[in-house]
Amino acid sequence: HRFERDKRVNLHGAMSEIALFYQSMLLQNIAKPAVSYLKSRGLSKSVVEAFGIGYAPKHALMNQFGKTADDKKRLLEMGMLGENDDKRTYERFRDRIMFPIRDKRGRVIGFGGRIIDSGTPKYLNSPETVLFQKSRHLYGLYEVFQYHPDPKYIVVVEGYMDVVALAQFGVNYAVATLGTATSTEHIQMLFRSVDTIICCYDGDRAGKDAAWRALNAALPLLDDGKQIQFSFLPDGEDPDSLIRKIGKEAFEELLLKSMGYDHFLFESLSKDIDLSNQQGKTKLSALAIPLIKSVPGAAHKLLLKNAFGTRIGMLDARQLDQLFNAYA
Ligand code: GTP
Ligand code: MN
Ligand code: MN
Ligand code: MN
Ligand code: MN
Repeated sequence: HRFERDKRVNLHGAMSEIALFYQSMLLQNIAKPAVSYLKSRGLSKSVVEAFGIGYAPKHALMNQFGKTADDKKRLLEMGMLGENDDKRTYERFRDRIMFPIRDKRGRVIGFGGRIIDSGTPKYLNSPETVLFQKSRHLYGLYEVFQYHPDPKYIVVVEGYMDVVALAQFGVNYAVATLGTATSTEHIQMLFRSVDTIICCYDGDRAGKDAAWRALNAALPLLDDGKQIQFSFLPDGEDPDSLIRKIGKEAFEELLLKSMGYDHFLFESLSKDIDLSNQQGKTKLSALAIPLIKSVPGAAHKLLLKNAFGTRIGMLDARQLDQLFNAYA
């Protein structure tokens, strides 16, 4: 395993070198459209630096780092080159704004690359490599700890730009998942550092779905003292656009008023259920009870149980116990 570890160390070093190279490219003439774009998005120089944002011109990576066959092989392992069906390699990121993704120790493990202005795909992410696993890394987590050694809570948002824009406005305790759903591992990682997670997603269908999946990942990890809350943004807004409109204070107000997970849980479960009749009550029971039972915190569990009882009009504790015992 020594060899494998040395190899990873080398790859980490090389990724960081590439990130610095992309940062330095921002100062070149060729980066003018990229720099204008960053400016048009309202990003300050200092936040661009704090997040190590850079620019990947076409062919620059190959010219700088891909001279030999060995170099190319390494770039492939790092996910910086892709391979066609006929084994021809190509640069994954060409003419894109580069967001380095760092691990907890600040080592660059991958990139998100945004197209300048418009086009598809809007974002490209590094593929899964020995260094980078989407379900195990969060964009911006390293940076949160740079700003706060001991944050009170962490906000989870959908996008790279959201994390960076929030930080620029002083909400420098946000992370984003990397084009995947919030996983159990993500929640585990966050709960190791903070007691409260606030998921702040778009108000659209996709945002609600993302929140629902995050909740399901979090329920089996909800020890007493831990909390996960949900904040849904107005239609058409994301954290980036919203904080630019309303500012830091109003945005943090919104976070403070976020919905408790219990409320979101019952609202989601009973969305299509008519609780005024027996059938609806039994439907909700079948959905809610197994989930409630999966919660490890005894106090959380009891509070949920009582809230559930209120919803279906079963206020007698012994009856509720009987009902819960009937479910595995
Ligand atoms: P901006 O348009 O630059 O403000 O980005 P955004 O973060 O608001 O983008 P959006 O809300 O559309 O998407 C949220 C996140 O989903 C992005 O930050 C990406 O991580 C991911 N994403 C969006 N579009 C794509 C895409 O085309 N491909 C991939 N792989 N991921 C995407
Ligand atoms: Mn702090
Ligand atoms: Mn959306
Ligand atoms: Mn956006
Ligand atoms: Mn968005």
